[in-house]
Amino acid sequence: MTDPENARLQVAVIIGSIRNGRFGPVVADWVISHIAQREDMAVDRVDLLETPLPVHMPAFGEVPSDEVREKVGALSSRLAAADAFVIVTPEYNHSYPASLKNAIDWHNEQWHAKPVGFVSYGGVSGGLRAVEHLRVVLAEVHAVTVRNTVSFANYGQLFDAEGKTTDPASDVAAKAMLDQLAWWGQALRDAKKTRPYTV
Ligand SMILES: Cc1cc2nc3c(=O)[nH]c(=O)nc-3n(C[C@H](O)[C@H](O)[C@H](O)COP(=O)(O)O)c2cc1C
Repeated sequence: MTDPENARLQVAVIIGSIRNGRFGPVVADWVISHIAQREDMAVDRVDLLETPLPVHMPAFGEVPSDEVREKVGALSSRLAAADAFVIVTPEYNHSYPASLKNAIDWHNEQWHAKPVGFVSYGGVSGGLRAVEHLRVVLAEVHAVTVRNTVSFANYGQLFDAEGKTTDPASDVAAKAMLDQLAWWGQALRDAKKTRPYTV
């Protein structure tokens, strides 16, 4: 029987890009392959393309329509079930995609007191400007971002046809980021059992 104290950390890997022809799933599946090798984590692959959200938000206090609640709820339940997140983001105009901002904004307590790690990709900046913007936004919803980022600059040259990275340094970077995510995820999960996050 699983000891709940030692249960695997539930990690939601969020694919931030929903563009036709996007590269995001290749990067997401690469980091998922790293998570799959770990004994301390279980993964949920959350593709924002598969859980489309409205952009038109209700007024404060307004009860959304059944259709909106159903659409948002499909994503909310998966975010709520996660102990930790890995956000896979490209860089769009020196920031991150609108689809990702919308997913963050529709939620609040689902992010609370949970760690977030990043895998970014883009041109020469490797998506790091998107990550720095995300750190500021996620602090507002009480999430904790981990220090190390995995970043792919000029990513087109860095993955082979099977979606594996050609630079072993990326695997080292993924381990460092996931180790930090595990530390924070376990620490916060344990802390919330005795001290619910209500601040
Ligand atoms: C609207 C848009 C804006 C972009 N702006 C940037 C940018 O500011 N910096 C950058 O490095 N790449 C930029 N790019 C290139 C993307 O990093 C690249 O197209 C990447 O493949 C996008 O991720 P995706 O394929 O998963 O959508 C931009 C791409 C799009 C579609």
